[in-house]
Amino acid sequence: MPNKDKVKIAPAEGKLGVLIPGMGAVTTTFIAGLEAFKRGLGKPIGSLTQLGTIRLGKRTEGRSPAIKDFVPLARMEDIVVGCWDIFEDNAYQAAVKAGVLEPALLEQLKEPLSAIQPMKAVFDQKFVKRINGPNVKTGGTKMEYALAVMEDIRQFQERTGVSRTVMIWCGSTEVYHEAAPVHDTVASFEEGLRNDDPEISPSQIYAYAALKSGVSYANGAPHLTTDMPALMELARTMNLPVCGKDYKSGQTFMKTLIAPGLKSRLLGLSGWFSTNILGNRDGEVLDEPGSFRSKEVSKSSALEYILQGDLYPDLYKHFYHKVRIEYYPPRGDAKEGWDNIDIFGWLGYPMQIKINFLCRDSILAAPLVLDLVLFMDLAQRAGMRGIQEWLSFYFKAPMHAPELYPEHDIFIQLMKLKNTLRHMQGEDLITHLGLEYYD
Ligand SMILES: NC(=O)c1ccc[n+]([C@@H]2O[C@H](COP(=O)([O-])OP(=O)(O)OC[C@H]3O[C@@H](n4cnc5c(N)ncnc54)[C@H](O)[C@@H]3O)[C@@H](O)[C@H]2O)c1
Repeated sequence: MPNKDKVKIAPAEGKLGVLIPGMGAVTTTFIAGLEAFKRGLGKPIGSLTQLGTIRLGKRTEGRSPAIKDFVPLARMEDIVVGCWDIFEDNAYQAAVKAGVLEPALLEQLKEPLSAIQPMKAVFDQKFVKRINGPNVKTGGTKMEYALAVMEDIRQFQERTGVSRTVMIWCGSTEVYHEAAPVHDTVASFEEGLRNDDPEISPSQIYAYAALKSGVSYANGAPHLTTDMPALMELARTMNLPVCGKDYKSGQTFMKTLIAPGLKSRLLGLSGWFSTNILGNRDGEVLDEPGSFRSKEVSKSSALEYILQGDLYPDLYKHFYHKVRIEYYPPRGDAKEGWDNIDIFGWLGYPMQIKINFLCRDSILAAPLVLDLVLFMDLAQRAGMRGIQEWLSFYFKAPMHAPELYPEHDIFIQLMKLKNTLRHMQGEDLITHLGLEYYD
C-alpha cells in the first residue's frame, strides 16, 4: 500500500497535442506507428510506457502493474500530431521518401498520414548546411518568426481542440554552437530575437515560442537549444518541464549497456573505436562538419562519465575513444554500427569485444518519442518544472543541473525513472537492499 503522500497530478483528460519541428524519418515512423496501432497493425515494441511494468513494494507482494496503469498517462489514441518542415510533402509522402516502413503498410495508412501537412518552418541554412527547402517562413526578424510559431501553436490548439500540448524536436541536427552572451537571460535573448542575433538558432526560436505558449520542450537532437540560462529561466517562470538531448537509440545505447558491465567487473579499457554507416537524410546532414561536431560531442561524453577515470585511474584514465559516422546512401535508414573494444583483465592481459549492430535508426527512435511525449505531459500535469533528469534514460547527452555530472549508466537511469514514478504515486522507492527477506 502507498505509505507516502502522492504528488498531485491533474488528470489526462481530453486530447494531447504533440508538436514536432521536423517531419522526416523519425517523425513519420512515430506517426505511422500511432496510426498502425489504432488499426491493430502492430505493437509499440520498445516503448516503456506501453509495454513496461513497475514493481511496487516487497518482492513477496507480487505487485507489478503496467506503467500505463500505474501513472495517469495520456492514451496513444488521444495524441494529435502537428509538424513543421522545410519540405512541403505531407506525412505520407515524407514517410515514403524516408523509406523506413514497407510501402504496403504505408498504403494502409495513406489517408491519416496524407492529412498531416507541415506548417512553414523557421529555417536558417547557417545552422543546417546540407539541405534547403521551400516551406519556410520568410522576410521577418527572429522575433517575428517566434511570434509566427506561437500563432501556429495557437491555431493548432484551436483547430484540434487539444487540452494540453508538448513539443519535441525531431528536426535535423544543427551545427555545433556553445551558449553565447545573448543566451544569458530572457531579456538578452528577447533583445537578440529582435536584433536577429546570429547566435540564436531556429531550434531556439521554436523552444522559446513553445515555452512562451505554455508548452513543454524536449530536444531529440544533440545541438544546443534549451540548455542555456535564458530558456531555463523561461521554463522555470512558466512552470514547464524541459529535457534533452539526442535520442539514445543505437550505438550509444549499446555503449551504455556494455560500459557499466565492464566497470562492474573492474575490467580495464584501453580503447573504444565506434564507427557506423548510414544513408538517410540525417546521415547527409551529419556529413557536414558543423552538424557532425554536435553529434560527436554528444556521443563522446557517455563513456567518460560512466567509467569515472578519476576514481579508477588504473582502469579507465587513459583509454582512447573515437567516434566516426560515415554517410553511405545505399543503406538508407538501415544503419550499421561497429564497435571495437580493447579491454584488459587480470595482470593486464588484453582482450577484445566486437559489436556489429545492424539496426534501424527510426525504428529504435520512434518508441522513445512516444515515451518522451507521454512522460513530458505527465510531468507538466504534475507541476514538475525545469530539467527532467529522470528522463535521462532516453538521451545520449542528458541535461543536468550545472553542479552535477550527468548520469549515463542506463541501468541507473531506468531505476531513477521508475523511482520517480513511485515517488509521484506515494510508493516506497526500491533500493534493492532486501535484508528483510533474510531476518
Ligand atoms: N535513431 C535516430 O534516428 C536518432 C537518434 C538520435 C537523434 N536523432 C536526431 O533526430 C533528428 C531527426 O532524425 P531523422 O532521422 O528523422 O532525420 P531526417 O533528416 O529524416 O528528418 C529531419 C527533418 O527535419 C527537417 N528540418 C530541418 N530543419 C528544420 C527546421 N528548422 N524546422 C522544421 N523542420 C526542419 C528536415 O527537412 C527533415 O525533414 C535528427 O536531428 C537526428 O540527429 C535521431
